[in-house]
Amino acid sequence: MALNDPEEQNEDQNFEISIRPRVLSEFTGQEKIKNNLAISIEAAKKRNEPIEHILFHGPSGLGKTTLSYLIANEMGKNIRVTSGPTVEKVGDLGAILTNLEDGDILFIDEIHRLNKLIEEVLYPAMEDYALDIIVGKGPSARTIRLDLPKFTLIGATTRIDLISSPLLNRFGITHHLDYYRNEEIKEIITRSSHVLGVEIKENAAQRIAESSRQTPRISNRLLRRVRDFAEVRGSGVIDNAAVEATFEHLEIDSYGLDPTDRKILETIIHKFENNPVGLSTLAASMAESRDTIENIYEPYLLQLGFLIRTPRGRRATKLAYEHLGITYPNNQTLL
Ligand SMILES: Nc1ncnc2c1ncn2[C@@H]1O[C@H](COP(=O)(O)OP(=O)(O)OP(=O)(O)O)[C@@H](O)[C@H]1O
Ligand SMILES: [Mg+2]
Repeated sequence: MALNDPEEQNEDQNFEISIRPRVLSEFTGQEKIKNNLAISIEAAKKRNEPIEHILFHGPSGLGKTTLSYLIANEMGKNIRVTSGPTVEKVGDLGAILTNLEDGDILFIDEIHRLNKLIEEVLYPAMEDYALDIIVGKGPSARTIRLDLPKFTLIGATTRIDLISSPLLNRFGITHHLDYYRNEEIKEIITRSSHVLGVEIKENAAQRIAESSRQTPRISNRLLRRVRDFAEVRGSGVIDNAAVEATFEHLEIDSYGLDPTDRKILETIIHKFENNPVGLSTLAASMAESRDTIENIYEPYLLQLGFLIRTPRGRRATKLAYEHLGITYPNNQTLL
């Protein structure tokens, strides 16, 4: 199980829904983004206009989707949700756009995966609230322009580098979500426990925070696992013993790395003798998908400085060797 997999199948939906922040004041961290959003929301409300188009980008599990729902809620408007790979035909997007109401939010997740043709339909929609439809075929074909409601597009992506500049330029606001500080994660854990009505000891919240890879999705999932354990085996109170026992069972180490993280590093170190390994090669030799390695596992290993990306491939650093308890070969240039 990948702790940061957005498509985790066993997710307890009620758990998810109950702990998701719905207003800005419940959303911990990302202070600059929150301040800017609060101003945009207030200004838009005062002018009775939709909020500008917003792009959220940054690693998985940091709150892009949460913020999008939260904005719709704060604006008192509907949110229509779709994603890059889901919109297959120009007509699909046309149908979505024409069904919006003034001020509604259209949320497109994984917006970097929209195909080019569909992206081009978005340009006039974002700029002029207009939909250009081609009627007829051949020489008699002509374009009709339909007016669209004044909506707000919110796009989310983990890969801003894959977004074309014409699309990027049409967002009025771009926000980059970064990893959270441990203190903030601890606050999120404490708040989530409170919402769930579970007592948590301070040192237990601290311990979970340390292993959460600075990611709220992971801290909440770990909290859920620990809560289940505390309920079944213990007093129902989340204390350090419950946390340690759960982490041991899940094989999560002090950095929050799970067995797959360690296997990525060990594969590079043992199988490839820490020569640069390409993503496809690495994925194939681990029987994981490229996407999973690149989007779920790699970002945090890079962030920790355990992995580096060179033009020729991935390599493990001295820090990674130390963490895994493997002797760093002295014939290597220091990474
Ligand atoms: N700042 C926060 N405060 C409290 N909870 C948060 C915060 N950010 C995220 N969460 C929680 O973490 C979970 C993951 O967040 P979310 O789904 O918004 O991430 P995401 O950035 O959209 O990830 P992905 O790129 O994988 O789609 C949410 O269910 C939410 O409850
Ligand atoms: Mg999301």
